[in-house]
Amino acid sequence: MKKEKIIKEYKKKIKDIKKYDKFYHDKNDPLVDDAKYDKLKNEIINLEKKYSFLKNKHSPSQKIGYEPSDKFKKVNHAVPMLSLANAFSIENIKDFVKKIKNFLSIKESEKIFFSAEPKIDGISASIKYINGIFTLGLSRGDGKTGEDITNNLKTISDIPKKIVKPDFPKNIDIRGEVYISKSDFVKIDKQFANPRNAAGGSLRQKNANETKKIPLKFVAYGFGNVETKKFEKQSEFISLLKTWGFNTNPLNKIVSSIEEIEKNHKEIEMQRSDLDYDLDGLVYKVDNLKLQNRLGFVSNSPRWAIAHKFSAEKGFSIIKNIEIQVGRTGALTPVAKIEPVNIGGVVVSNATLHNEDEINRKDIRIGDVVCIQRAGDVIPQVLYVEKIKRNKNAKKFIFPEKCPSCGSKTTKEFNFTTKKKDAVTRCPDLKFNCKEILREKLKHFVSKDALNIEGFGKKIVQNFWDLNLIRYPADIFNLDFKDISNLDGWGNLSASNLENSIENSKKISLDKLIFAIGIRHIGQENAKTLAKYFINIKKFEELFDKEKRKTILEYLLELDGIGETQINSLDNFFSNQNNLNTVSNLIKKLNVSNFKTSKSGIFYGKTIMFTGGLSKMSRAEAKALVEKEGGKILGTASKKLNYLVVGGSNPTSKKVEKAKLMNVKIIDENSWYRLLDR
Ligand code: IVH
Repeated sequence: MKKEKIIKEYKKKIKDIKKYDKFYHDKNDPLVDDAKYDKLKNEIINLEKKYSFLKNKHSPSQKIGYEPSDKFKKVNHAVPMLSLANAFSIENIKDFVKKIKNFLSIKESEKIFFSAEPKIDGISASIKYINGIFTLGLSRGDGKTGEDITNNLKTISDIPKKIVKPDFPKNIDIRGEVYISKSDFVKIDKQFANPRNAAGGSLRQKNANETKKIPLKFVAYGFGNVETKKFEKQSEFISLLKTWGFNTNPLNKIVSSIEEIEKNHKEIEMQRSDLDYDLDGLVYKVDNLKLQNRLGFVSNSPRWAIAHKFSAEKGFSIIKNIEIQVGRTGALTPVAKIEPVNIGGVVVSNATLHNEDEINRKDIRIGDVVCIQRAGDVIPQVLYVEKIKRNKNAKKFIFPEKCPSCGSKTTKEFNFTTKKKDAVTRCPDLKFNCKEILREKLKHFVSKDALNIEGFGKKIVQNFWDLNLIRYPADIFNLDFKDISNLDGWGNLSASNLENSIENSKKISLDKLIFAIGIRHIGQENAKTLAKYFINIKKFEELFDKEKRKTILEYLLELDGIGETQINSLDNFFSNQNNLNTVSNLIKKLNVSNFKTSKSGIFYGKTIMFTGGLSKMSRAEAKALVEKEGGKILGTASKKLNYLVVGGSNPTSKKVEKAKLMNVKIIDENSWYRLLDR
């Protein structure tokens, strides 16, 4: 073989392995299976052995593991970077507007103005300016803590480095989207799947000179911390951004009625293919910042904003098989394995079939030709079956009556709210030992909102699970990193990075731990409510004791948001010896910090209950205010209750009488507003 040809072949292989490494380590999303990776690795090493002139720093022979993904310093955001809830239809938007009006307790007919902004599909960043100087640039990270990517962001010419304007705040975080235009994307080396990956990959280069090579752009749309804020509306802020030298989207608009929202959405969707950047929808934000502040947020998303996605893209394929996946809550989800098909630039090979009813309703069978819909990052679904193309021998799909993982007889729960049987089939997992559920719980345990173990994604959980390295959460803290460094695709460096991330995750707050355990019906909000009650891990451990548990659960039932469902689930969970062992083994490995409540709040340490409607705010807003000020809301009057707030409209006299008997302080509506200084 000619030398040039050998070099060319070698370079191609190096390029491939570089790409595989990147997807495996940085994105936790392997492009090829281990066997294929190893084959390529051996081919490269054999070529190097045969031809001594071949050498490359990206060759597996030159590397000990992969470049650390924790190459950037972690910095807390002064104000968290929230994410957005999604709306897929105008009905969802109507709900969103209605909820806002209910929360603010304003009339249906009253107008609310929204800033409607195109949602560019890129990577968000937060840039801190102190006295007009770009001083710190952070990635979103998990929303609370970002990565210090100052040097990389400084290479973007759209981002002003110095702003000398009298009205520019002394200290401000400017937030926006870093992206790459469609036309620039086609010009750069095709090592990224789409413009979004290209922007993300380039921003996270360790060497800022690498970032510089890729033409990144920046559009500003928000703020974090501001001193001193002199604007009152989002739209006013956007106009100011322009005068300060930032790019803003020229398609930003103020909308108010549903008709206007719908029209604007349609118009921009029509222009979508002509725009030089990828859009995945529009963002609506309540324009008035005072109202935004009153609305606040739930978990990680604001009540005052939503993303209105564009309609999905469709494609056709054949169902090769229907598999049943068992989720961490025991839900059995049927998944169609389809002939891979490219839908809007993404190769789809799985589609969710939701549940048994859905399969029956759409009469979906193995071998069917189906229409698949993919919307953004949501799991693709089967829209309908092309019945004319059906093979006459195709058999109806029979939903399993037993859990495919542990063999338990499956059930459908009765839903007390809808007064109907649930559509979801579940493995009851009475003994808490169903293997697939355990594995899925581990995936939840390491995830962002739980332990947040960086670089420990779902794929790694699956991989370690298959290798029998982990079964229970505590096993993660007993891993042997020497053994891991010898696994395929791992090296000393990547193993030691993982060791560091695991070590870092050991310090965890009580609410995150409660959420991470994965108790049914205990989501992030309930975990916070519980942590607020227990405060420290010692008190939480009292749940392990049968007698103490009984008393605790009786009290918890009084807390707002905790009902019979949650209490039964907690009782059920902690009555099981397997679970007690799992949780106590885990706690031994962790350093659980106390739940921090705002000790300065005006309701700190107080319990409050409401009866009757308030005229100036909804019950939801009143409750949110109490929690913000460190107080607890009770659902029933008891000796522990400090205040009963009696609203002007239809208070329950029984509640008032009971509170009087118990000597609870009773507050009327006006005194309530006075307490709040409103
Ligand atoms: S506002 C609470 N405005 O969308 C506010 N986000 O799903 C959250 N994005 O992480 C962000 N254009 O990466 C906002 N005009 C815009 C946006 C925008 C794009 C992205 C951003 C964010 C994600 C939220």
